[in-house]
Amino acid sequence: MGFIESFRAVARFRRPEFDSTKRRLSRSASVEDLRLMAKKRLPAGVFHYIDGGAEDERTLFRNSDGFSRLEFRPRVLRDVSDIDTSTTLFGERRPLPLILAPTGFTRIADPQGELAVARSAARRNIPYGLSTLSTRSIEEVAAVSDGPKWFQVYTWKDRAMVKEMIDRAAAAGYEALWLTVDTAILGRRERDVRLGMTLPPKLGLDTIVEGIRHPAWTWGLLRNEPITFSNVTGMADLDGTSAVSLSEYINSQFDSSLSWEDVEWLRSVWSGPIIIKGIQTVEDAKLAVESGVEGIALSNHGGRQLDDAPAIVELIEPVAQAVGGQISVIADGGVRRGSDIVKALALGADAVMAGRAYLYALGAAGEPGVDHVLDFLTEGMRRAMALSGCQTVNDISRDLVTWRPLNRVPTPTTIDRRQAVASVERP
Ligand code: GLV
Repeated sequence: MGFIESFRAVARFRRPEFDSTKRRLSRSASVEDLRLMAKKRLPAGVFHYIDGGAEDERTLFRNSDGFSRLEFRPRVLRDVSDIDTSTTLFGERRPLPLILAPTGFTRIADPQGELAVARSAARRNIPYGLSTLSTRSIEEVAAVSDGPKWFQVYTWKDRAMVKEMIDRAAAAGYEALWLTVDTAILGRRERDVRLGMTLPPKLGLDTIVEGIRHPAWTWGLLRNEPITFSNVTGMADLDGTSAVSLSEYINSQFDSSLSWEDVEWLRSVWSGPIIIKGIQTVEDAKLAVESGVEGIALSNHGGRQLDDAPAIVELIEPVAQAVGGQISVIADGGVRRGSDIVKALALGADAVMAGRAYLYALGAAGEPGVDHVLDFLTEGMRRAMALSGCQTVNDISRDLVTWRPLNRVPTPTTIDRRQAVASVERP
């Protein structure tokens, strides 16, 4: 064989990919890769609003780091030729124990925002959670998605307005309702303070400079209709047409007197499943069972509210032991891989939620990015099941994982998280 033939036999070049989005995605191997891509594409204020958490971000960090404290006890020689990741949630069979968490202001990551995420979720029959503070309305999302949709409610002081939104969600075919209970007032997100972040982003010299540095994002923003809180459009002072800081908005509009009686009120205005989102103790999980709701989401709002609230992964087992079987337990926080979903199920969760994972993907590459990350999580779950000896979700039992002792040596994620916090310029 001549040199050219030998070289041809061993050399494998990637076929050139001319579509820049596809090219970016083909090189992204993990959620962390998508996060770094989003960091490049989005203006600093937007990226850090999505990426950041409350105060010193310890809870934010522990949510995802907690999964690394769990080690698999892989079982072998168990036929895993036919993996089935599907599960039943509120009486419906779903292909994956995953729900896309509601996130506010999704259009700041990409002009299509909630529509892109809802379409991608619908293609896979994954429930999509629409936030009350969404930037596409209940009806706009329903018009592009016939997949399962859940609606998240915050309670504005004006209950008539909340009821009207709930009625609209019912009329548009949303299946379940989340009541978020961890946002009596807004947590202090210090990256937003440092960067002067408002919603929608306001135009100032620094935003113009950031806009020039991130032309694709800026072009998307300028070409599309303004970002507003679409569910309350037209209601003076409520729809976000004037730039406000999120804390001013929430602290003035939301009802911090919310209590268990309001859960009864919610039951009187909604006939489908209700999930209380933001449960962080066994005691409140038990009260949720007493209140008669169908589900709880263990959540600290992605580490964005009370810093040093417990890592979600550490709450799953005690809560599942106390109330599992009486109510669906959904774990919301820190899921970055399909193997994290398997770990959460092993500890007793019925399903998990993910928010940042798809927001990074949306910011990195729009709707194809969301497709990419949902396939990544699905494949990751299949792989973890195959390699740990589970054919169906029923095979994922408590003895599949074990806790490792607390590791004091910084792991790569710890180091990266510190860099992320340090990289926000301080005045
Ligand atoms: C809104 O819910 C936020 O966490 O920023």
